[in-house]
Amino acid sequence: ETKPRTPVLWLHGLECTCCSEAFLRSAHPLASDVILSMISLDYDDTIMAAAGQQAEAIVDEIIEKYNGNYILAVEGNPPLNEDGMYCIIGGKPFLDQLKKAASNCKAIISWGSCASWGCVQAARPNPTQAVPVHKVIRDKPIIKVPGCPPIPEVMTAVITYIATFERLPELDRQGRPKMFYSQRIHDKCYRRPHFDAGQFVEQWDDDSARKGFCLYKMGCKGPTTYNACSTTRWYGGLSFPIQSGHGCIGCSEEGFWDNGSFYDRL
Ligand code: SF4
Ligand code: SF4
Ligand code: F3S
Repeated sequence: ETKPRTPVLWLHGLECTCCSEAFLRSAHPLASDVILSMISLDYDDTIMAAAGQQAEAIVDEIIEKYNGNYILAVEGNPPLNEDGMYCIIGGKPFLDQLKKAASNCKAIISWGSCASWGCVQAARPNPTQAVPVHKVIRDKPIIKVPGCPPIPEVMTAVITYIATFERLPELDRQGRPKMFYSQRIHDKCYRRPHFDAGQFVEQWDDDSARKGFCLYKMGCKGPTTYNACSTTRWYGGLSFPIQSGHGCIGCSEEGFWDNGSFYDRL
C-alpha cells in the first residue's frame, strides 16, 4: 500500500477506441481497481476529466517528472504520410507526440492490433501510411498485446503483472506475452471435438450450426490464430466469437485485415 504506483501515459493514435472499451469491461481485475489502486493513470484522453491545453500539458509534465520511470501505453498507431498530418492531437501530429513520449519511457505497451500490427487503417493501399508503433520506436522494450480489441482480462493482466513484479512479462519472438499468446484458438476450442470428428457447419444457420459443430468450413481462422480467447474467453469467461456462432477472423494476427479473414473469402 505504501509502494508508489507506476505512472502510465496512455496515448491514442489512429484507432477506434474499442481497445479502451474492452479494457474498461475487464471483470478480473476490474478496470476501476487497476486505475485506482495499481497504477497511476496520469493521462488518457478518453477517460480523464481534464481537456484542452491543461490536459496536454500533463504529457510534458509526466515525461520530465518521471524521467525513464513511466510506462507508455499506446492505442492506435501513427500515420507517416504528409509528416503525420492524418492524425492530429492537440494541434500536433500524433507521430511527434509518440516519439516525444517514447523518448523517456521505461517500456511501451502496444494495445491491440492497431499499435501492434497496423490493423484496418493500414489495409492496402494504406493511403495514410499507418504503421505499427515498433516501426517508429526502435530503442525501447515493446510489449505487443494484439487483438481487435485485445481480451480485456489480458490487458489488465499485463498491467497487473508489471505492477506486481516490477518487470515485463516474458515475451515471444514477436513481442507478445507468452502466457497469453503461445497457443492457438484451435488448441483449446470447445468445438474442437467436432473438428476432429469431421462435423462441420456448411451454411449459416443449417442444422449443423444449430448443433454447434466446427466453423472451419465457414472460414474460422482458429487453427492459425494465437490468442487466449478459447482459454480465458471474454468478460470474466462469458463468451468469445466462436461461442457466439461465428468463426474466428484471426483479429490478433499480423495482416489479418488483408489476408482474407473477411467475407470475400468465406
Ligand atoms: Fe479499435 Fe481494433 Fe484498433 Fe483496438 S486494435 S483501436 S479495437 S481497430
Ligand atoms: Fe478450430 Fe475454429 Fe473449429 Fe474451433 S471452430 S475447432 S477454432 S476450426
Ligand atoms: Fe479475435 Fe479470433 Fe479471439 S477473432 S477475438 S482472436 S476468437
